[in-house]
Amino acid sequence: MNILLTGGTGYIGSHTAVVLAQAGHKVILFDNLCNSSNEVVGRLEKIVGKKIDFAEGDVRDTALLIEVMRTHQIEAVIHFAGLKAVGQSVADPILYFANNVQGTISLLQAMQQLQIKTFIFSSSATVYGEPVYLPYDEVHPTKPINPYGDSKLQVEIILRDLAQSDAQWKIACLRYFNPVGAHDSGLIGDDPNGIPGNLMPYLSRVAAGTLKYLNVFGKDYDTRDGTGERDYIHVVDLAEGHMAALDFLNKHAGLHVVNLGTGKPASVLECVRAFEKACGKPLPIEFAPRRDGDLPIYYAKADLAKQLFGWTAQRSLDKMCESAWYFEQMHNK
Ligand code: NAD
Ligand code: UFG
Repeated sequence: MNILLTGGTGYIGSHTAVVLAQAGHKVILFDNLCNSSNEVVGRLEKIVGKKIDFAEGDVRDTALLIEVMRTHQIEAVIHFAGLKAVGQSVADPILYFANNVQGTISLLQAMQQLQIKTFIFSSSATVYGEPVYLPYDEVHPTKPINPYGDSKLQVEIILRDLAQSDAQWKIACLRYFNPVGAHDSGLIGDDPNGIPGNLMPYLSRVAAGTLKYLNVFGKDYDTRDGTGERDYIHVVDLAEGHMAALDFLNKHAGLHVVNLGTGKPASVLECVRAFEKACGKPLPIEFAPRRDGDLPIYYAKADLAKQLFGWTAQRSLDKMCESAWYFEQMHNK
């Protein structure tokens, strides 16, 4: 199929591009490069050994999207483009609604005009909010606790109404848990600008020596070892989940809301240990106060993805850390 990947030069989009291109699909990346670099295109070409098309632009530019989708005879869209920094969304909610919600509306308008009706949306476990029970299944109440999560939920609501209005739409809302790790080539991975806010890229930089120690946010949570627990998922597993979702949508219309996680939580200290094993040295940590807005623990019920898509995550926490560490080393050569 000819597939448009908005946000295609970003972290998850680029890994998904590899999986789709290697399976014989034609991928066209569309990105405004606000949080990625066009150097990724060349790296992807190196990995897959063929040309990858890239169009620079903003998803709010409906006319440009129509032109790009028409030129490339797009048949399906995977919509990764979005802003994802929780703290920034609290400080500037309008930015998040303009980019994430308005951007999605613009994209759907372009698709509607061209009668393209297969759509996968990057949603997030953050739509669930405070757990009423765990693991979160897909019918768990949704009550996000920040504007970033609100923007994801608003898009989900738009997609629900769209699917109800026209039975030809084939839509998957994929609720990602915590994507980490990198492609085995070491050519693409999670490469945030400045000091990383997330655990794994932070640990990579401690291992590389560019940051002195990890602050472990909270040591007295009601969890197995007192530190926060999350459902970390290897980004290549996540990428494969998109291909499985696309195969499913090709046979099933309607809206499908599905978790993509492993179903197994790991604590911050377990991640530190796994990373130490991967890099072969002890990593300094310091306990720090709990981070504002952090939940103690959450993880996915991952059964629906298996049932519908025939997909389950395959790669271990060790693999996630090894690949993240390899990427860090390749990147800083
Ligand atoms: P990323 O920042 O690496 O990738 C997003 C890409 O979208 C970037 O390349 C950015 O330049 C582009 N972009 C942003 N706004 C755009 C716009 N208006 N027009 C065109 N391009 C635009 O982030 P990621 O981790 O790859 O996340 C991809 C998607 O998955 C996002 O929608 C994010 O909210 C969602 N998600 C991510 C996580 C995570 O922890 N990484 C978890 C759950 C959901
Ligand atoms: N943590 C630390 N030290 C750090 C960074 C993180 O101890 O320097 C801890 C956190 O307190 C938490 C765990 O590591 O317990 C994971 O934190 P991350 O920042 O890596 O990830 P979050 O679970 O907070 O959130 C991430 C994304 C969100 C997304 C969510 C989806 O940042 O945007 O996963 O599940 F919505």
